[in-house]
Amino acid sequence: MQNLLEVKGLEKEFSLGNGFFKKSSKTFKAVNGIDLTIKKGEIIGLIGESGSGKSTIGRMVLRLIEPSSGKIIYDGKDLTNLSHKEMKEYYRKMQIIFQDSASSFNPRKTIGEQIVNPMLRLGVANTKKEAEEEVLRLLVKVGLKEEHFIRYPHEFSGGQRQRIGIARALALKPEFLVLDEPTSALDVSIQAQILNLLLDLQEEFNLTYLFIGHNLSIIKFFCDRVAVLYKGRLVELADSDTLYKTPYHPVSRMLLDSVLSLDKKPLLDNVNENTGKGGGCVFSEKCGYAIDVCYGAHPEVVHLDGGHQYACYNPPIEEGVEFQDEPQRKLS
Ligand SMILES: Nc1ncnc2c1ncn2[C@@H]1O[C@H](COP(=O)(O)OP(=O)(O)OP(=O)(O)O)[C@@H](O)[C@H]1O
Ligand SMILES: [Mg+2]
Repeated sequence: MQNLLEVKGLEKEFSLGNGFFKKSSKTFKAVNGIDLTIKKGEIIGLIGESGSGKSTIGRMVLRLIEPSSGKIIYDGKDLTNLSHKEMKEYYRKMQIIFQDSASSFNPRKTIGEQIVNPMLRLGVANTKKEAEEEVLRLLVKVGLKEEHFIRYPHEFSGGQRQRIGIARALALKPEFLVLDEPTSALDVSIQAQILNLLLDLQEEFNLTYLFIGHNLSIIKFFCDRVAVLYKGRLVELADSDTLYKTPYHPVSRMLLDSVLSLDKKPLLDNVNENTGKGGGCVFSEKCGYAIDVCYGAHPEVVHLDGGHQYACYNPPIEEGVEFQDEPQRKLS
């Protein structure tokens, strides 16, 4: 499979502003040296606890926020330094679905006209009539009705609002979608419907997804590969099956453990509070498996067969987690 997106050494440093008038010189690295390749037609999951940098990565990839350093290469083209004008083609090809995508809609305009307008602006349709016909078709495709075209955003439920967001993204004939926790705000039964819709669309249009989430049980059935983040660092990457059966990194085990049944004891009950030296592995302060070297420098990435990679000096592999249920592609 061909690579669609390559991210090399991606970093984001935010300045820790200490007031309205004066910018602080102190900075905070929210994303730190991320290398990631996404193949055409692949669904890759990005997981990590809150604040680990998932959304920042998703937005940098689309150039919605600027990286501090690193490169973003899309379909062989380096997007990193393209002007706003040069990005136009990519603003169309690369779309994002948020937790509540319809919240960015204007409450005083119908959803139909708000999907039509960007189609005309970005040249996906030549005439208003052509765009309108396409939107009617798309509304039905995402599980809504034609008559919803003339309704206003507040008239829809949470699940329907996500369908509208999906229709708006699809209207631009995208190739790549960042799905930033697209179902986190929805009831479980609705979540399954939206995820199944996203899977169907991915197959039909051969889309490529970067799926951001916390919920590992969703990621397991949804993603081909999973990248695990911790404090802005990519700590493990593997295909979904491998990550579930043999996670190498303590952070992956911690995240997996939170979806394991309650009769299993937490893997990280022996939290090591020795934070003394700083500058070591980003997880060393909390890791129950930390050894001396972990407090020195953040570990290099280790590459195993099959594209499995991890960054850990002392992976707790002898205590492999065995998951009985196989990943499945459809939620019931
Ligand atoms: N504009 C900003 N200025 C300063 N700090 C920021 C800014 N945006 C994000 N951050 C910080 O960067 C870190 C990563 O944020 P990000 O939103 O990417 O995390 P996340 O993994 O998406 O979390 P969540 O799961 O809660 O959505 C957080 O500590 C956040 O507070
Ligand atoms: Mg986020």
